[in-house]
Amino acid sequence: MTAHENKTAQPLVHLGITRPEELSSLFADLRGRFDADCASAHDESSWKQFRDAWLGRKSGVLTQITDSWLKPATPELKRAVGQQLNELRAHVESQIETRRAAIETGAEENALARDRIDLSLPGVVRPVGSHHLIRQVFQEIEDIFFSIGFSIVEGPEIETPYYNFEALNIPEFHPVRDDMDTFYLDLPKGAPTPLLLRTHTSPMQIRTMEKQKPPVRVIVPGKVYRRDNPDATHSFAFHQIEGLAVDTDITFCDFTGTIEYFVKRFFGPSVKTRFRPSYFPFTEPSVEFDVSCPFCGGTGTAAGGGTCSKCKGAAWIELFGAGMVDPAVYGFVNYDPKKVSGFAFGIGIDRLAMLKYGIDDIQIFFQNDVRFLRQFP
Ligand code: DAH
Repeated sequence: MTAHENKTAQPLVHLGITRPEELSSLFADLRGRFDADCASAHDESSWKQFRDAWLGRKSGVLTQITDSWLKPATPELKRAVGQQLNELRAHVESQIETRRAAIETGAEENALARDRIDLSLPGVVRPVGSHHLIRQVFQEIEDIFFSIGFSIVEGPEIETPYYNFEALNIPEFHPVRDDMDTFYLDLPKGAPTPLLLRTHTSPMQIRTMEKQKPPVRVIVPGKVYRRDNPDATHSFAFHQIEGLAVDTDITFCDFTGTIEYFVKRFFGPSVKTRFRPSYFPFTEPSVEFDVSCPFCGGTGTAAGGGTCSKCKGAAWIELFGAGMVDPAVYGFVNYDPKKVSGFAFGIGIDRLAMLKYGIDDIQIFFQNDVRFLRQFP
């Protein structure tokens, strides 16, 4: 216990003080002690301790003075003690408040200094990603068709058998359903219709024609799913772009002209195209489009001699299926087959990307290995 605390706990008579003049040095001592305490309160918690020591209602120094000096003082001392105590109180209260404000601004300034941004420091480099090669190829093809008046629409990846099959002229027991080993969803009993992951983008032909009267010119980029076992050329998820053009006067010539334009823009002007008869339930006639191998110039022979590894010496590469829309399909969308005609095509994007960029394993598209992705910034 310090001397002044001792003193403030004792009546003045015990301190040998009987005359008002003797009070001054006593109060001066206290003020000096207070000023020293005040200067050593540097943060909020030491300031609080200091404040309680002086102003605490139960045992603060000012309370002690009131209790031990003022209350029992003799009548001749009382007035002087009261006056000096008031002066001291005024000093204590104002200094404590000043100190609080100083600590607060100091803390703020420190915080500001800590948060201040130094614009001269080097920045944090955050690597910017790039589009996946599949997205880039989508974009390339979208741009080509966009430039000749097609719009781009997208549709659901979960479909009903009606859109995925029936309305495309593939009834329930049609054998081509076997070509598309399908993922059906497990649904609660009593669900209104089975649901499946779409096996191709062709359902959007139907959805588009249901919504829109001719003329129709759309392409549909998207993901499709089949129960294929993964190997270098198969994946249970892959990508297609569907195309559909329907109007009152579309001929087979418009069809081949459009496809040829696309293929030349995609592979370069020197490639040739050809088509072979094929079969799809929703096109009649149906064709398979081939392109002369862009890698060996359609010779089947590699630059350094030997067989071209891309076309395996065939000089042609099979590209995609297409055809004139089967009139039966118009029946499902309330188009009049006597008045309208059109063509459709379905491009496998993964295959096209593999061909164009020399990739020999489709699985690499789905592995997200940055060493691969970085090669296509
Ligand atoms: N949907 C077919 C498939 O996935 C591809 C296809 C062929 C789409 C011919 C068409 C088409 O629009 O006319 O195998």
